[in-house]
Amino acid sequence: MAGTRRGSLRARLTAGVVLLAAGGMVAVNAVSLIGLRLNLVDAADATLAKARATVQHRVRDRAAPVDGAGLDSLVPDGFYVALVDDRGRVVAQTSARDLSGRRRARPDLPAPVPDGFADRPRTLPARGAPVPRYRTRTFRLNRPATIRPARGAPPRRFERVVVAKSLQPADDVVYWLIGADTAATLAALGGIVLLSRGVLRVGLRPLREMAATATAVADGAIDQRIEVAGHHSEVGEVATALNRAFDERQRSEEQLRQFVANASHELRTPLTTIRGWAQLHLHGLAQDPALVERAMERIEGEAARMHATVEELLLLARLDQGRPLDDAPVNLGALADDAAADARVRDPGAPVTVEVRGEVFAAGDEDRLRQVLQNLLGNALRHTPPGTPIAVTARALPDGTAELTVSDEGPGMSPRTAARVFERFYRGEEARAPAAGGTGLGLSIVKSITEAHGGTVTVRTAPGEGSTFTVRLPAAR
Ligand SMILES: Nc1ncnc2c1ncn2[C@@H]1O[C@H](COP(=O)(O)OP(=O)(O)OP(=O)(O)O)[C@@H](O)[C@H]1O
Ligand SMILES: [Mg+2]
Repeated sequence: MAGTRRGSLRARLTAGVVLLAAGGMVAVNAVSLIGLRLNLVDAADATLAKARATVQHRVRDRAAPVDGAGLDSLVPDGFYVALVDDRGRVVAQTSARDLSGRRRARPDLPAPVPDGFADRPRTLPARGAPVPRYRTRTFRLNRPATIRPARGAPPRRFERVVVAKSLQPADDVVYWLIGADTAATLAALGGIVLLSRGVLRVGLRPLREMAATATAVADGAIDQRIEVAGHHSEVGEVATALNRAFDERQRSEEQLRQFVANASHELRTPLTTIRGWAQLHLHGLAQDPALVERAMERIEGEAARMHATVEELLLLARLDQGRPLDDAPVNLGALADDAAADARVRDPGAPVTVEVRGEVFAAGDEDRLRQVLQNLLGNALRHTPPGTPIAVTARALPDGTAELTVSDEGPGMSPRTAARVFERFYRGEEARAPAAGGTGLGLSIVKSITEAHGGTVTVRTAPGEGSTFTVRLPAAR
């Protein structure tokens, strides 16, 4: 991926990081600047209180009474003092130029100065300019004092003194800091942008690798997998989940291929037989009427077998689609009786017993459940020697499940066979002989039907110890 596309995850993450960082820095800067300013104003207020003490002491000192010129020397540079009479008029004030002769702004006092003006410190603008501003405070003398504002002028009485301190130094510090903070913040944000781009490029690399692998898998390289080692955390979880999805896809694809191969193979055998007999007849080789009859019989038999296989495949395909089944109450006891009766008809010598305990009902599709019993009993008859005792039971379990079992005292199965009997097209060793005739779909149909009903089927068996198939189904509501 070259560069950062607009709207890409990386661009959005970078923007998010920068926005958050900028927000945080601005907030911190604002708080510290406001704090600093409050502090500086507090300090100015404290010096005003001190200046008040000095001024009060000096104007009362009879030995050195203040005059207009002496007013400037009362307070340090940067301060302003005004003497106010009983009518609020300014009698004298510090001069408009400082010691070095530079003009200085004065606080913008109201004229006349109202009673109670600036009893508490307040900020005033300078006359004619918003900056510098003045922190101003007024105090009243215990008794009026007199001042000779200028040489030769008549003395004037005053009773209030306004002291003000320029906030210029404080403002200078604050403005300087705003500039410095802004520069530092911008530099830091620039650094964060560069760094986070780098970090994100490295951090998002696994995602890009995953996308590449997923694309490769989608394009047909179905055995490619994402390297999970080294990816911990969420990325690792995503990689593992994707790998599992790929495994699952590969598995189901292989299963499907296997299924189609098996099905074709299963249909090819009877087709070959049918064609063989048909060609024999067409080429006039079957002159003997007995042979012709034999051919017709075989063709009919194989066609029937194909028909049965195709029916079974269709049934499996339908069950695989997961279409909802009937869920009427089905009397499993009656089904067990019927299946046993059918078995006795098919195989008159077979000792088939049925035991139904109480009323056993399951919710489901009667025809399908009938088929489950037929397949299980068919196996018990087909895969055991003649005369082997077979028992069918049906009962309701305490938890409400309905249970069906079909057991025989036949040869049983090895653990390896038992582990695979529910696979499609799987046939045991003995059953593979063409004479045995099965396609190996019987038990997979049992499994599909049971699971479509929300139930389970299991087998308990061992060589020489017979086999017991147990089907559990949710009870009828
Ligand atoms: N009661 C049983 N006793 C011993 N082996 C059994 C029993 N039931 C099933 N098997 C074994 O399990 C295999 C799979 O059974 P399944 O019913 O799926 O196929 P099948 O009976 O061979 O063919 P069909 O599709 O005609 O049923 C059988 O081939 C057989 O080897
Ligand atoms: Mg079978």
